[in-house]
Amino acid sequence: MSTIDSILRETRVFEPTDEFKRKATISGMEAYNQLCDQANEHYAGFWGELARERITWKKMFTRVLDESTPPFFKWFDDGVLNVSYNCLDRHLAQLANKIAIIFEADDGQVTRVTYAELYRRVCQFANGLKSLDVKKGDRVVVYMPMSIEAVIAMQACARIGAIHSVVFGGFSAKSLQERIIDAGASVVITANEGMRGGKAVPLKAVTDEAIGLGGCDGLRKVVVYQRTNHGCAQWNDERDIWWHKLTEGQPETCEPEWVNAEDPLFILYTSGSTGKPKGIQHSSAGYLLGTINTMYWSFDYKPNDIFWCTADVGWITGHSYVTYGPLAVGATQVIFEGVPTYPDAGRFWQMIETHKVTTFYTAPTAIRSLIKLGADLPNQYDLSSLRLLGTVGEPINPEAWMWYYEVVGKRRCPIIDTWWQTETGSHMITPMPGAVPTKPGSCTLPVPGIAVDIVDESGAPIEPGKGGFLVIKRPWPSMVRTIWGDPERFKKTYFPEEFNGQLYLAGDSAHRDENGYFWIMGRIDDVLNVSGHRLGTMEIESALVANPLVAEAAVVGKPHEVKGEAVVAFVVLKKSPESRDEAQQIAKNLREWVSHEIGALARPEEIRFGDNLPKTRSGKIMRRLLRSLAKGEQITQDVSTLENPGILQQLQEAVN
Ligand code: PRX
Repeated sequence: MSTIDSILRETRVFEPTDEFKRKATISGMEAYNQLCDQANEHYAGFWGELARERITWKKMFTRVLDESTPPFFKWFDDGVLNVSYNCLDRHLAQLANKIAIIFEADDGQVTRVTYAELYRRVCQFANGLKSLDVKKGDRVVVYMPMSIEAVIAMQACARIGAIHSVVFGGFSAKSLQERIIDAGASVVITANEGMRGGKAVPLKAVTDEAIGLGGCDGLRKVVVYQRTNHGCAQWNDERDIWWHKLTEGQPETCEPEWVNAEDPLFILYTSGSTGKPKGIQHSSAGYLLGTINTMYWSFDYKPNDIFWCTADVGWITGHSYVTYGPLAVGATQVIFEGVPTYPDAGRFWQMIETHKVTTFYTAPTAIRSLIKLGADLPNQYDLSSLRLLGTVGEPINPEAWMWYYEVVGKRRCPIIDTWWQTETGSHMITPMPGAVPTKPGSCTLPVPGIAVDIVDESGAPIEPGKGGFLVIKRPWPSMVRTIWGDPERFKKTYFPEEFNGQLYLAGDSAHRDENGYFWIMGRIDDVLNVSGHRLGTMEIESALVANPLVAEAAVVGKPHEVKGEAVVAFVVLKKSPESRDEAQQIAKNLREWVSHEIGALARPEEIRFGDNLPKTRSGKIMRRLLRSLAKGEQITQDVSTLENPGILQQLQEAVN
């Protein structure tokens, strides 16, 4: 751990403005501390009260937390509810005509739907799914562009008790196929095409390709939303059905399927350091409560807010803060189909001005790329509607934080740097904006009720300033319940024996400063964070080795100005290239290959060929050395245990 001891020394502190503090849900440090104390002293009572207040139950629970079979914790487990009912039906009496979604398409066209319309459309689509014989507990894969329909698809699954598994539209046919198989999905919902930055993304064609790869035995139907007026390259009359045909004539109401609190709401796949992606399984009630609490606490949600989370629904951020959280509290939200740089780098700022966005939530990688493309651009727009800014996905560097604070937020808007994960379901560490003073680059203090700590290898707490493992000491309502189909892996990965199975191991390293503020330092495993998205090095290595030219491959990350981290691949070819040109051509092909196998996110920035990889005498690849090589650092480590020290120089020079 000594290598990750803190090097950051950030001393700037920003208090919330009096104006913000006065109106905030959690106003001032005293209120924040009080909530934390309450949770600490009466853990079950604290969560139980919130769950009673903020969720509408069909049948109220009588037990809050069941800890009898750790780490398989149950929350509110004899309660009965429906998540879609909580997001739609319960608002109809008061908010039927309130705008639920302002959708801005890639080409700028805007569509608005009210809560009443969204309710009707979700019901119709839910009835459509039922007509395809989709039942409670069935898995439905959603492979959609950002759209009102993507939200409808997810909400409709929740309505009938089906378990959705959204696959990000940028993932390849192979990744889609693996997820369809692992989830055992019977239906895929997709679109003929998506539109991003003026270009069409052929989602239906990729779906056909995925199914063509074989093994999707349980798959019966593919529902296709017609996003563009192009058709589909292929059509299978027996299997494929248009969205508009499916919903035609369907009733506009649909009695929700009442489910138990612990019934799974969704599975979302995420990368781990080893093996195939993990199907992170979330519950219905606990998950919903996590998203609602953080809407009120971290986002300080107010009924007049115009909320905009830029994340795609293919990621957990899009689940919690597009599909579920905002709708569960009855918010008006913006959903954007396109990319931040199209038609130009002013797109986000233009949209904030047009839609009078009050709460804006995006990723550090987007902020960094927009600074690069026009640090002054925000000044050309009226951003005065903004009152709160947020970031998520990776550490934000203090320079980017300060720019966000000054140029976008005009020193008026608190920034919530939200640390959490697919597995945590909702924010875990982030400043309560009307209470906790912020420091650029720190996610500050835990959300009330979340017992975060930093420990050493033995599980003992660590003193301030020293780096260690970030852990969560008590179960929380929105936590992952298991890995779909693999409870053993769930236990091993998140509640390892080293910590007596008592602590949730997040997989991040962190340290705390003298004020108890958390600073996230990065992953402790072989997981890369590229543009705020998790990629397992193993996955990329497996993809490379699957190429007929490749004998062996090792993948590491290197710091990247915009993406945070970039993929660097060290590759041993079966036959060495004969010229520099040939090497470059092969490198180019391998990049394409990885893109095609996994998705463009995983495309290596750099590929280096060598006759071998640096290995210990026992044959273990020395990844530490590869990381240093990738960063262009001088090798200062002891290399005497290397089987083949000469390889280092070769790999140092072989950049493609
Ligand atoms: O390493 C942490 C980083 O992203 C990982 C979780 O990735 P994922 O499950 O894809 O979820 C991303 C969106 C919640 C974490 O283990 N991470 C996420 N947020 C932050 C962060 N690192 C530093 N600061 C953050 N605010």
